[in-house]
Amino acid sequence: MEKFHCGSLDWSVYAKGVGMPLVFLHAFPLDHTMYSLACLPLEDAYRVILPDLPGFGEARFLGACVPERVTMSEYADGLALLLDELGEEKVVLCGVSMGGYIAMQFFRRHAQRLAGLIFCDTRSTPDLPTAAKNRLILADTIHEHGSASLCDRMVPNLLSPETTTEQPDVVDFLREMISRQDPNGIAAAARGMAARDDSTEYLKDILVPTLVLGGVEDMISPPEAMRELASRIPGSEFSVIPSAGHLPPLESPVLFASTVRAFVDKAYDKPSV
Ligand code: MLT
Repeated sequence: MEKFHCGSLDWSVYAKGVGMPLVFLHAFPLDHTMYSLACLPLEDAYRVILPDLPGFGEARFLGACVPERVTMSEYADGLALLLDELGEEKVVLCGVSMGGYIAMQFFRRHAQRLAGLIFCDTRSTPDLPTAAKNRLILADTIHEHGSASLCDRMVPNLLSPETTTEQPDVVDFLREMISRQDPNGIAAAARGMAARDDSTEYLKDILVPTLVLGGVEDMISPPEAMRELASRIPGSEFSVIPSAGHLPPLESPVLFASTVRAFVDKAYDKPSV
């Protein structure tokens, strides 16, 4: 992993492969390893860029540099600086859930840097007041309870029933990933998500190739909600990943990779293999 200081925040980045750049933004409260298996099949033809967002994974906050809140637009602006550091002008940007909130902000602020977009199990709308309030409570109490305390309440909602019963290794992997996250990073992102505004009116302006996809069993952003999101983006493609819940790259990495591969080959006008 390489480290970069962008604006006021530190990023950590795994980048592998050569070719057109594909950037994958992770969900909350996770890190880039949620894509480890899913992105392997893409590395033979693309430069795969997997950041740990500031405060997560190997980009945990250090010393005195602990922001109280990081907004979705701050992550998006940081990402633009990160791409400068990586020498990439235009990318296909994929975001799962919170990663999708950031991708929407990236479109609103840096549209000229996009060759394509992939929204996975995410939404354009802000939090309802109760949800926003709960996030602020989480941010204020996570230090006391510890990151691992999120596992029991989050993991059953993040994975499909099939993943939970048939892939115990994925369940363990996810629990470990959540448990090792920096409580400061979780708190900052939770406050940032609570403050996010509505991106819905901007969806009609997305003119780059866009793929909207989601797990058929996702309880947080169900397929009907993803279909509705796709219907607002001109010419977008819509795809459902069978057996997966909220985290298709983790639950169904092979199908996620082949769906993304078919889309990006078209977005970059490459012959499919
Ligand atoms: C995520 O997976 O990133 C979360 O579900 C986002 C959220 O809490 O809204």
